[in-house]
Amino acid sequence: MDKIELSKVDTILDDHRGKKDSLITVLQKSQNELGYLSKDTQKYIADEMKIPYSKLYGVVTFYSQFHQKPRGKYIVRVCEGTACHVRGGDKVLEALKDELGVDRGETTKDLLFTLEPVACLGACGLAPVVMINDESYGRMTPESIVEVINEYRNKN
Ligand code: FES
Repeated sequence: MDKIELSKVDTILDDHRGKKDSLITVLQKSQNELGYLSKDTQKYIADEMKIPYSKLYGVVTFYSQFHQKPRGKYIVRVCEGTACHVRGGDKVLEALKDELGVDRGETTKDLLFTLEPVACLGACGLAPVVMINDESYGRMTPESIVEVINEYRNKN
């Protein structure tokens, strides 16, 4: 952690020191500030909250909301639900892997995109569906998803 990150975590910890039941809140707020929870950050929080690191690590690995690696500015969620799958969602996922040069769950080196296959996104009528952060894109094809990705690239 650099000094800025340290002071951000310290500010969060100030409200929760000595309150062991605040661990999840501290982890959530720290992740919101830093984007992810590095090993250093986890160890620092464990020390400061006087919690064994193994216990904190158990919490971080149990909840899928916590991330231990840097994540992209854009989280690309590709639906793998049945409706999307039968309408070509698997080809959309393959096109994304090729275009971004990453596998499932990975982040591009420029930290722009994280590829996350997910279960049904609740918009089956628009299958195949991809969400990029809070934006939904329906009836995607391998070609149209590449166009969408390029739009995001051009914003940066
Ligand atoms: S199966 Fe993809 S949105 Fe429901």
